[in-house]
Amino acid sequence: MNLPMPPQPVIEARQLRLRPFVAADAPEVQRLAGDRRVAETTLAIPHPYPDGAAEAWIATHPVGWLAGREITYAIERRRDAALVGAIALLNVSAAHAHAEVGYWIGHDYWGQGLATEATRALLDFAENELGLTRIAGRCLARNPASARVMQKAGLRPEGCMVRHLEIGGVYEDVLLFGRVSPSRLAP
Ligand SMILES: CC(C)(COP(=O)(O)OP(=O)(O)OC[C@H]1O[C@@H](n2cnc3c(N)ncnc32)[C@H](O)[C@@H]1OP(=O)(O)O)[C@@H](O)C(=O)NCCC(=O)NCCS
Repeated sequence: MNLPMPPQPVIEARQLRLRPFVAADAPEVQRLAGDRRVAETTLAIPHPYPDGAAEAWIATHPVGWLAGREITYAIERRRDAALVGAIALLNVSAAHAHAEVGYWIGHDYWGQGLATEATRALLDFAENELGLTRIAGRCLARNPASARVMQKAGLRPEGCMVRHLEIGGVYEDVLLFGRVSPSRLAP
């Protein structure tokens, strides 16, 4: 497989552009990710969203890219360059040719197919440019929109981790999904 090398490339899709975050995105990240409706079905977004957290998060991205471990993209709408969300390949393993996908979209932009388009574009990049032949995804069982996004992007349901997480005193089931390249399925 090809390991990621700098600079992190921009990925063009139909309505969207996936590009590296820049420090100037921080206020909009804080506004979008600071919305309770965005935070409540993710594990990674703190709520309330602290001042400085977006700047600190964006500063980690070049490190993740250079290490080939975590590849994070801003999701930008092409027609007006609006920042609409974020998507990442997480736990990237060159040795095992696999990674996980995670994403969020600002509430103003829900229901327009943007998460699906971004996921498809990132997964094609992961397979074609990085040689990652398995992408896993997971979501809370109470997050049917995310489950739907994964399935529309070609990830198949692989099971449920029952009561896998305890969040605020509530046990949560976690659904597993996976997309396996045909080359990996060949004998
Ligand atoms: C999950 C999320 C990324 C979806 O983003 P989006 O851009 O609205 O997604 P899309 O428009 O591409 O697709 C959403 C799909 O879910 C469906 N959907 C939405 N709410 C649903 C619900 N309550 N039950 C079932 N399906 C639902 C939509 O109808 C659509 O499917 P369709 O195209 O077949 O009609 C967005 O809601 C979000 O950011 N949520 C908060 C963060 C989060 O949960 N991230 C994922 C963590 S695993």
